[in-house]
Formats: sequence, structure tokens, C-alpha cells
Amino acid sequence: MDKLTVFGNPIAHSLSPQIHQLFAQQTGRQISYTRHLTTSPQFSAAVASFFRGGGVGANVTLPFKESAYYLATHLTRRAFEAKAVNTLVPLGHGQLLGDNTDGHGLVHDLQRYVPRLQGLEVLLLGAGGAAHGVVAPLLAAGVAKITVVNRTLTRAQQLRDYFSDERIHVSSYESLMQPQGNYCIINATSASLAGIQLPIPEAIYAGAQLAYDMMYGAQPTVFMRQAKTAGSAQVVDGLGMLVEQAALAFQLWFGESRVLTEPVIAQLRANL
Ligand code: ATR
Repeated sequence: MDKLTVFGNPIAHSLSPQIHQLFAQQTGRQISYTRHLTTSPQFSAAVASFFRGGGVGANVTLPFKESAYYLATHLTRRAFEAKAVNTLVPLGHGQLLGDNTDGHGLVHDLQRYVPRLQGLEVLLLGAGGAAHGVVAPLLAAGVAKITVVNRTLTRAQQLRDYFSDERIHVSSYESLMQPQGNYCIINATSASLAGIQLPIPEAIYAGAQLAYDMMYGAQPTVFMRQAKTAGSAQVVDGLGMLVEQAALAFQLWFGESRVLTEPVIAQLRANL
């Protein structure tokens, strides 16, 4: 029985155990995947103890993704660019590889709705950790432009400067212009969690090929409702991203590339 866990706070509602059980069933593996509630002062000791006890892999969720970035002894390029780690792989002798599969998860899920990301413009709402983590994978997928829209403009500028790629632009909500070509809107703010509407003009929602919320839940988020009412062509939540990031983590731990994500998304959706 392979031992896996997810560290977070809160953690009770994490779907990761369920997702990885479904992947394990698909691939004929026996796993025990637990949820681990911890605190910032205890995080590194909890991780060390888990791997000393024979854990074969772990996920890390909020608020520990940055702590995991500093804790890992080795980082993949993806994790380095994201400045955050959501997947830990033991390398033996106390060494830990930190990876970040979130951006990969987003890009894979986006491709279900917008098969050609090349040439697309992205309005990326938010400039916190969630936004930071997806910038490099979006650029790597060939998007033409990312406009980072944030309430606090200096944070958007910091994010642009961190990556220093000429395709990254910044805007406040007030001065946001409607893109000329094909575009999608990705909500990486935490405003949905608080049930707050973002000040995006209706015309900008209306012209979007896709309005994508990185959050998910039983009900559409405030952002999704706004986008739907205004007439975005497609309105989607982040459940697919969650399952896709998990599929890549599963692959890192077990070398399995055979997992099917569609049936897992459907099953989770039915139980939300
Ligand atoms: P995370 O790591 O989940 O991205 P975060 O670093 O706290 O969390 O970032 C939250 C993001 O949501 C930020 O971009 C924040 O905007 P500010 O940088 O201006 O704080 C954005 N956000 C949160 N509440 C918001 C609101 N009511 N309106 C607009 N943006 C909001």
C-alpha cells in the first residue's frame, strides 16, 4: 500500500484523496491517500515525518505552497518559475523534489475549450500566488499576450517584472481595454471566495471565447454568473484544472501516464 498525503490548512474539503483513489483504481494500484492538517510552524517537521515514515509522495495546498518551495532540496523548472510547490517527490536521504503541476493543469484544461492557445490573448485577473503560478505555462503554451489585471496595480507590475517577457502587460480594472482578437478571461483572484463581483465591463465578458474561474464549487461562482449573464461564449470552473494537475502529480510519483481524467472529472462533478 503506497502512502500519499496532502498538506494544507484548511484541508477537510480537499478532493485530492478521492481523485488519486480513482487514478489508483484505473491503474490497479493500492494507495492510502490522507489529508494532513498542519500549521506554518509545524509544516516542515510534518513533511519530514511523513517521508521518514515511508510516504511515496505528497501534495501541498494553501497556504503552504511557498513554504514547500523553500523546503524542497531540488526544484523543477516549473516550480522555480511558479515560486511555489504543489507536489513533493522523495529522492531518498532526506532529499525532496518540488514540482508545480498547477499551470500544466490549467493549460490542459483550457485546451478542452480553446484547442488553439497560440495567438490567444489572456486577461488574467489577479496577481497573487494563483496568478503567478500559471503565467509561465501560459507563455510556454504560446499565448500571444497576457494582460494581468489587478486591483493593486503595483502587484501586477511586480509580476510582469518577475517574468520580464514582452507578452506580459498590466492594467487596472478601470482602464481595462477590450482586446481586438480572440481572448479568454481567467479569474485567479480570491474575490469569488468572498462572493464579490469584479468590475469587468459587460462588453468584455460578452466578447470572450471563454471565461474560466480557477475556483470551483457546487454552484457557479460570482465571476461565472457575471460572465454567463453578459454572454461569454463558454463559462467554466476550475474542477478540470484540479484533476489535470493531480494527473501529472500521479505520473511523477508512479511513472503512470495512462490515467484518464475525463471520467474522474465527471464523477467529481456528480458528487459536488
Ligand atoms: P492567491 O495566492 O490565492 O492568489 P493572494 O496572494 O491573496 O492569494 O491573491 C489574491 C488575489 O485576489 C489578488 O490579486 C487580489 O488583489 P490585490 O492584489 O489587489 O489584493 C485579488 N482580490 C482579492 N479580493 C479582491 C477583490 N474584492 N477585488 C479585486 N481583486 C481581489
